[in-house]
Amino acid sequence: MDLRVTDTSCLEWSGDALAVGLFEDQVELTGELASLDEKLSGTIQELITEVEFKGKAGSSASTRVGGGSSIRKIILVGLGKPEELKLEGLRQAGAAIAKIAKKEKAKTLGISLPLCNEDAAASAQAIAEGIELALHQDTRFKSDPDDKGAKLETVELLGLGGQDAAITRARQLCSGVILARELVAAPANIVTPITLAETALAIANEYGLDVQILERDECEKLGMGAFLGVAQASDLPPKFIHLTYRPAGTPRRKLAIIGKGLTFDSGGLNIKPSGSGIEMMKTDMGGAAATLGAAKAIAQLKPADVEVHFISAATENMISGHAMHPGDILTASNGKTIEINNTDAEGRLTLADALVFAEKLGVDAIVDLATLTGACVIALGDDIAGLWSPNDDLAAELVTAADKAGEKLWKMPMEEKYFDGMKSVVADMKNTGPRPGGAITAALFLKQFVNDTAWAHLDIAGPVWADKENSYNSVGATGFGVRTLVSWVFAA
Ligand code: BES
Ligand code: MN
Ligand code: ZN
Repeated sequence: MDLRVTDTSCLEWSGDALAVGLFEDQVELTGELASLDEKLSGTIQELITEVEFKGKAGSSASTRVGGGSSIRKIILVGLGKPEELKLEGLRQAGAAIAKIAKKEKAKTLGISLPLCNEDAAASAQAIAEGIELALHQDTRFKSDPDDKGAKLETVELLGLGGQDAAITRARQLCSGVILARELVAAPANIVTPITLAETALAIANEYGLDVQILERDECEKLGMGAFLGVAQASDLPPKFIHLTYRPAGTPRRKLAIIGKGLTFDSGGLNIKPSGSGIEMMKTDMGGAAATLGAAKAIAQLKPADVEVHFISAATENMISGHAMHPGDILTASNGKTIEINNTDAEGRLTLADALVFAEKLGVDAIVDLATLTGACVIALGDDIAGLWSPNDDLAAELVTAADKAGEKLWKMPMEEKYFDGMKSVVADMKNTGPRPGGAITAALFLKQFVNDTAWAHLDIAGPVWADKENSYNSVGATGFGVRTLVSWVFAA
């Protein structure tokens, strides 16, 4: 699909489908739209009246334009109240339009939307993001995809001539989101720790990042007993992935992003019973997918003077004769000992060694993303990620970054008292506490592996996957986190 900008107005544009945005309760046609309506023999006004179109955010309508018009279809999207229009509104409008145009089998699409805050670059980028994300469809594993037929070939953003760089940025960002979606959607027999490492190598080669893959023996030398304990029953080798983006100049800030990379989580000997969603545990590398997706986007977008480390301790959590036993004591790379009272709380074990590794790099801030707990899904539902941080400034940075990017985070409490539930008789700590507050104790566990570096933890177990279609996502992997991370790195 060719996505471009043009100074052509909606009056002059010709093609299969023309989409225009209308604000709430401002659906009387004036100016250019009135002239367009006249040119289309009153089709727009007829459509507005017929469906009682009010311009509410999220609403849309479309119809065929009769006669030998230079436009075949007209699409209306509601934008809500003008004073409430945000970039996210434009993103969603772009997505809604793209989906309708595709359903209507348009090959060429023209889009005329107002600017948000008179910022043409940001507006063009947001609309383009919505389009790119809404049109992505993953048919890799279908032998006969049902959606063949006409494809959208050209999309033109009208009145946004000169904003080519904004379109390029949208495409670069979305290439990262789409990589994350495809990694998450692929099952555990396709995406393994080896595949994740190969993906990191491919990104490094293509965009010139530094990359280091630590094999099991190297992880042993670093004392990563927690990570390796999780990996020990798998027939696949664990891979500790470390990609680095270095800016052209001297970095002003150094950041680390860590993603939980469990390519399959069986639960280990505390095996997940049927009905627990074990068949969805291919998504347990959603943090690693977001990390690699962010790496791919950042490598292309090239933020000035920020160095970014992308890290994942990738493995499976399996069972076998040499699986870790419930009750085993593992020693992490910072010397702390952990009594494994539940082998299904494995993500925090892999993250523990990744956090220690990241802190040793001397970075200014660390953010980890993990499909860590079912408890977080119970607390915040499918659309919102939990955010924990002892550092209020970093937490605020992430909330702002997510808001700008159109992803949802909610700050959760770091209730130190709850760590009492993780006390062990035999070791420094257990790996799980009682069921209540399970997402909080998971965050408190992670905190044991960070000394004084600013750190935040995002539990993305809910939003990693969409069970229902939403604005720019069909059912399936969302690529959650990539947009927030990129937004955060640029604000850093
Ligand atoms: N990967 C799971 C968490 C998860 C659950 C992700 C549902 C996505 C959807 C994690 O490793 C896990 O098993 N957590 C346990 C922790 C418990 C044993 C303390 C959980 O949430 O039940
Ligand atoms: Mn688990
Ligand atoms: Zn897990």
